[in-house]
Amino acid sequence: MDTSTIVILDFGSQYTQLIARRIREFDVFSVVLPCTVPVEQIQALNPKGLILSGGPCSVYDADSPAADPAVLSLGLPVLGICYGLQFITHHLGGKVESAEQREYGHAEVSLVRETPLFRGLTGSMSVWMSHGDHAAELPDGFVLVAETANAVAGIAHEEKRIWAVQFHPEVAHTKQGTQLLRNFVLDLCGATPDWTPEHFIQSTLERIQALVGNGHAICGLSGGVDSSVAAVLVAKAIGERLTCIFVDNGVLRKDEFAKVQKSMREQLGLNVVAVDASQRFLAKLAGVTDPEQKRKAIGNEFIAVFDDEAKKIFEAERSAGEEIAWLVQGTLYPDVIESSSVKGPSQTIKSHHNVGGLPADMKLKLIEPLRDLFKDEVRRIGRDLGMPDEIIERQPFPGPGLAVRILGEVTAERVAILQEADAIVVDEIRKAGLYRKVWQSFAVLLPVKSVGVMGDQRTYANTCAIRAVESEDGMTADWAPLPYELLRTISSRIISEVRGINRVVYDITSKPPGTIEWE
Ligand code: XMP
Repeated sequence: MDTSTIVILDFGSQYTQLIARRIREFDVFSVVLPCTVPVEQIQALNPKGLILSGGPCSVYDADSPAADPAVLSLGLPVLGICYGLQFITHHLGGKVESAEQREYGHAEVSLVRETPLFRGLTGSMSVWMSHGDHAAELPDGFVLVAETANAVAGIAHEEKRIWAVQFHPEVAHTKQGTQLLRNFVLDLCGATPDWTPEHFIQSTLERIQALVGNGHAICGLSGGVDSSVAAVLVAKAIGERLTCIFVDNGVLRKDEFAKVQKSMREQLGLNVVAVDASQRFLAKLAGVTDPEQKRKAIGNEFIAVFDDEAKKIFEAERSAGEEIAWLVQGTLYPDVIESSSVKGPSQTIKSHHNVGGLPADMKLKLIEPLRDLFKDEVRRIGRDLGMPDEIIERQPFPGPGLAVRILGEVTAERVAILQEADAIVVDEIRKAGLYRKVWQSFAVLLPVKSVGVMGDQRTYANTCAIRAVESEDGMTADWAPLPYELLRTISSRIISEVRGINRVVYDITSKPPGTIEWE
């Protein structure tokens, strides 16, 4: 089956991924490509329509992205958003100028002329704007379809099937933005909503079977959603020929090593080799306090352990006349977009260690069954694969585990303290019915001791910070306004039940400028 596709050309806006997600929500497949791709690459996808994203530049800037204006004459329906509007205006003979009145944030837009893009919308829209330039003169044949008090807010050329808006329909602050995008994608482009979980699962299974044939694969499990869904998909395709490796790196959550093994084997039927390497990891972490060094130590050790285990499986298979040729990874679409973005692979803010080092001398080929999906789509697929909610709904957990939540040196004793505190946080958040509502909720152990009093005893013990954030994708986040009563319960339980902690504080930092994890 040929999937209906919408191509989004990325001019560098922070909202580009959001456009892709909105379109996927209509069950239509969308692909983000850097705006500099050759037009042949766009045509090869046989898209139903094209969206030009926003971007931080000005069309007149010397370093404005070098996109080919030929994208406007492919005969495809085009929707320009923000910078996209200016790109269209500039390249089709209109004029873009720096605006006297910059518009950032909320604005009111009047829809001044009917156009199919606005079908079903009311005459005025509350929108999200973010631009310094505006269209001062429209290109030939274009008409004004929307405006604010200060600027052009929408233009159209219906014969050419080109529309553009100055505001951002993809952000939640733009009321009716979803309807506008739906009009474009479903009506104007005529895309078929065929990007469904069943379709994805079926075509992925066929693709993996064709790719792997009779080969064998290995997969590193982290206990998280992505690697589990990837493993279940591959196992469904090749059955027993997939072996999963699950490593205890000494910085997992309380009881996690046992729980994950049990659910992977019993509930998901996966073939799992579990390796308790906690002593190896803790030995490498001894004396390390620098966050980047911790991540590197864990990342390197993980690759070493994975390598050792993979070799054992490799040898066993080889003596049985088989060969492991494939490595399964749970790479998601945001990572794929990130590494090909117009801004170039974005600056490493933290080195992210992810499961699945590639043992170099084994020459494994990669299977990345989720590389077209966003996190919420992965959850949807997992649900359709019949995976239990307990795994699907898991909050993200970083590869370096509790090590990046223990500030200062990571020791077995400090891991045990944090595991207890963390278990209380998760337990109470669950009881309050907030586990799925917040993106992540956890405890952080600080290298700060303070004085307290318990019973008649003076205490001098560690401080624990509680972190709970709301987020759509982990890229930006806001601290969650947890009810005071809940904070009170968490705090008093931690102080009375966890030996070694006598003070609890709540982290009220958003991202940016903070990050979600403390290290
Ligand atoms: P930060 O702390 O950068 O985290 O705001 C954003 C999201 O990424 C998770 N995270 C990681 N995930 N390996 C991972 O697989 C890592 O090294 C890592 N570091 C952070 C973090 O939990 C949050 O969801």
